[in-house]
Amino acid sequence: MQKLEQLYEGKAKKVFKTDDASYYIVEYKDDATAGNGAKKGTIAGKGPINNRVTNHLMQLLERQGVPTHFVKELSDRETVVKRVEIVPLEVIVRNIAAGSLAKRLGVEEGTRMARTVLEYCYKDDALGDPMVNDTHILAMGWATEAELREIAALSFRINDILGATLKDAGLELVDFKLEFGRTPEGQIILADEISPDTCRFWDTKTGEKLDKDRFRRDLGGVEAAYAEVRRRLLGPEGPSQA
Ligand code: TMP
Repeated sequence: MQKLEQLYEGKAKKVFKTDDASYYIVEYKDDATAGNGAKKGTIAGKGPINNRVTNHLMQLLERQGVPTHFVKELSDRETVVKRVEIVPLEVIVRNIAAGSLAKRLGVEEGTRMARTVLEYCYKDDALGDPMVNDTHILAMGWATEAELREIAALSFRINDILGATLKDAGLELVDFKLEFGRTPEGQIILADEISPDTCRFWDTKTGEKLDKDRFRRDLGGVEAAYAEVRRRLLGPEGPSQA
């Protein structure tokens, strides 16, 4: 498959067209931003870690019946994905109060909640990705009622599958962000990435943060935390993955 012109450059990834209209190639960068671009930096080696971790988790989800955009890992930073139209929503799943929810609702970070929380944000950098509810989404036509039902059902299933997998790796899945796409046939599938950039992972035993909060909050040990997540999920890095 041939990599053609760049379609889009985001904060952490680039997307390229290919010689097959059904597929794109995504390339993971080491660049990191936080606070809607207010803080910028680099996390050395992040691209290859997020690429491998995302692909590992997407394949695991596929095996358990969750449709994803994953097709094939091409190199340490590049992956072939299905072409989809991205539904302009960030779907946030929360198991434990943290981050913006803890701040907004005035609860202590780490508070256990009586159930899993699902939030939607409208993907628009200029507006700062405002939180919206299902009636906004339907009113603006960002998704249909059936699509929204599917997105919510898939998000809860993904949470169950990922939560169990991470628990086995000694990690608590505190919260995470998902994005979904619409295939040309109209199917809703999981897109984007699932990585320490887009999830909160806390060490089950020590509570240590092993995710992008180390960058957002200047906690230090950012690279080591990403490498630790990779190691726990995929094992020690062998020479073939260097
Ligand atoms: P929040 O507590 O800052 O709202 O973040 C909730 C989860 O969603 C957390 O795991 C980080 C992830 N997230 C993203 O991946 N991208 C974003 O733009 C935001 C706001 C959150």
